[in-house]
Amino acid sequence: MASVRWAFRCGSWTPSRSEWLFAARCIQKEEKDRIGQFVFAKDAKSAMVGRLLLRRFVCERMGIPWSEIRLERSPRGKPYLAAPLKVGSDLGAEPVAWSFNLSHQGDYAVLAAEKGMQVGVDIMKTSMPGSSSVPEFFRIMTRQFTAYEWSVIQSAGSEHQQLAMFYRHWALKESFIKAIGIGLGFNLQRVEFHLSAEPLTQGRVQCLTKMYLDDEEEVDWIFEESMLGADHHVAVALGPADKPGLSPSPPPATTFTLLSFSDLITSASPLTEEDPAYWDSFEMKAEAPQRQGDTQTTQ
Ligand SMILES: CC(C)(COP(=O)(O)OP(=O)(O)OC[C@H]1O[C@@H](n2cnc3c(N)ncnc32)[C@H](O)[C@@H]1OP(=O)(O)O)[C@@H](O)C(=O)NCCC(=O)NCCS
Repeated sequence: MASVRWAFRCGSWTPSRSEWLFAARCIQKEEKDRIGQFVFAKDAKSAMVGRLLLRRFVCERMGIPWSEIRLERSPRGKPYLAAPLKVGSDLGAEPVAWSFNLSHQGDYAVLAAEKGMQVGVDIMKTSMPGSSSVPEFFRIMTRQFTAYEWSVIQSAGSEHQQLAMFYRHWALKESFIKAIGIGLGFNLQRVEFHLSAEPLTQGRVQCLTKMYLDDEEEVDWIFEESMLGADHHVAVALGPADKPGLSPSPPPATTFTLLSFSDLITSASPLTEEDPAYWDSFEMKAEAPQRQGDTQTTQ
């Protein structure tokens, strides 16, 4: 079974001291240091879970012992397996043809991986803008979507429904950008999504959305859309592999499997010594920034 779709609910994970210190020992030192620098616990937790998801995937699905996995980032930040490149059944053959990607936002971290296709994943929680009204928020975001996409977003119904449609489009756009590994600097007006009239429902994957790039339909791209909980949109972009001859037939649509913390670390083995100060610093962090309007005064 080649498709991997895993999710972890970071929003309800309150790591114990031993969980946090063990997790920190099981990731590469530079990632541990990067995560240690986050101001808020929410960001540190989702980045930590992201690393554990990646390593679990490489270990369990690619068959590489945890301690031998070396992940690096492309110049634009996309993680890839730097070593070892030839493993298990792929020994002596082509380098492993897996593609994988990670997203963390709202209450979840998600990983999607596929063999022989380019993969990008994005998750977006529908939430009210922190400091502006919905129309003002949309005005600031004007350039992210085409006129057609805005017409779909703004005719979605109530403000909440419009925001949900906005984040659905956002996840789609990001999933494509992430599949091709670009990140910032892509003209988002070049890509336009056309959704089907059928709504997304929890527990089902929909693959009806079409993408137009520079006004031409990209028939080789598939977008798997699903909901995690009631308010998180997830999009998985699946595109033709950059190596000719590697693209298989489209994979069966796969729902996300929710993992527990013990699932995340079942194959893990420590790479570094325990660092008690890492917990002390984590424990001091506030969970998340206070959003404007959340502050309540007691008199
Ligand atoms: C990384 C990027 C592609 C997405 O970041 P994001 O949506 O804030 O964050 P996500 O949680 O979805 O993804 C972050 C993860 O993607 C991966 N990633 C980083 N750079 C990447 C890239 N260039 N391509 C693909 N994946 C990347 C990493 O695993 C990262 O997590 P980590 O740093 O903890 O390992 C970023 O460059 C970006 O924000 N682009 C914005 C483009 C834009 O304007 N979008 C508006 C859409 S309408």
